[in-house]
Amino acid sequence: MSVACRFLSSALLHRATACLSMTGCRNSCSNNRQMHWIRQIGTVANAPAVCARPVNLTYDVFDGKGDKTPLVFLHGLFGSKSNFQSIAKSLVQRTGRKVLTVDARNHGKSTHSPMITYEAMTNDLTQLLAQLRIGKCILIGHSMGGKVAMTTALTQPNLVERLVVVDISPAPTTPLTNFPAYIQAMKDVKVPNDVPRSTARRLAEDQLRKHVKERSVRQFLLTNLIEEDGQYSWRVNLEAIGNHLKDIMSFPAFNTSYEGPTLFLGGTNSAYISSEDYPEIQRLFPCADIQYIPDASHWIHADKPLDFISSLVAFLQS
Ligand SMILES: *[C@@H]1O[C@H](CO)[C@@H](O)[C@H](O)[C@H]1NC(C)=O
Ligand SMILES: *[C@@H]1O[C@H](CO)[C@@H](O)[C@H](O)[C@H]1NC(C)=O
Repeated sequence: MSVACRFLSSALLHRATACLSMTGCRNSCSNNRQMHWIRQIGTVANAPAVCARPVNLTYDVFDGKGDKTPLVFLHGLFGSKSNFQSIAKSLVQRTGRKVLTVDARNHGKSTHSPMITYEAMTNDLTQLLAQLRIGKCILIGHSMGGKVAMTTALTQPNLVERLVVVDISPAPTTPLTNFPAYIQAMKDVKVPNDVPRSTARRLAEDQLRKHVKERSVRQFLLTNLIEEDGQYSWRVNLEAIGNHLKDIMSFPAFNTSYEGPTLFLGGTNSAYISSEDYPEIQRLFPCADIQYIPDASHWIHADKPLDFISSLVAFLQS
């Protein structure tokens, strides 16, 4: 029964329901709700609870008129809330829901901290939802943000009405991307003060080229280049991310499951959700559907925004 199928539809993706959803989640949906962390792989051993103290996150609210459960978007490593801006606006129109986009700690305009783990990022999100008096949300997370979303659903299922995990699995991530080289390349970038922004971007891109081959990834990293009083710098906390890359690539171990409706959305041109992950997806998320968007890479929402939105809308209506 753990034989999961992978449905690849050719043109538009229609709700291809994987076998995972047929394995009796209806019966077990309100059983064991004991939440506990077994262990966090690779976390600094001493007092993680103290280090994981929440920080305030920056966020944007796109206000829908309806009072249905809001959508909350969490971006991936080196991303920011603006990655989902146009998608958020479109979803407000399509669903009437309120949509929030959030900057993770050490990303975008959120507070920096030397610690960046899934426990810490989940605590940040929990604090933000409490501050905004959001008692329930629909969590949509991409890559690292997907792992934060899964962790939140597994530890605080009452906060999460539905869960969407975009192109990542609840398993240690095989290093498909050479992040240490990216981090070093970003640290090594030198841009003179007081040059125009376009010049600064061009100089930085030239210097990144050696270690970051894909143009789209360079453009993505360059969204983090900021100017302050004529000086250019990276707004992401490269030091903390570099020190915690092991944590970010891993996934905490859980002995509980999230029984709410769950969608795993992969790109057919990406290897981040592989059939080897299906048993673990089924164990932790027994109600999960797994769908793939054709011709999409790891950055599904950037490659195929319309298909991405259609899949989300269909999932919300299912
Ligand atoms: C975090 O946000 C809360 C609520 O807006 C505010 O009361 C608090 O002062 C903020 N903390 C910091 C360190 O900015
Ligand atoms: C999971 O938790 C249950 C209940 O606390 C316990 O009986 C069981 O041994 C645990 N399983 C693992 C793999 O830790």
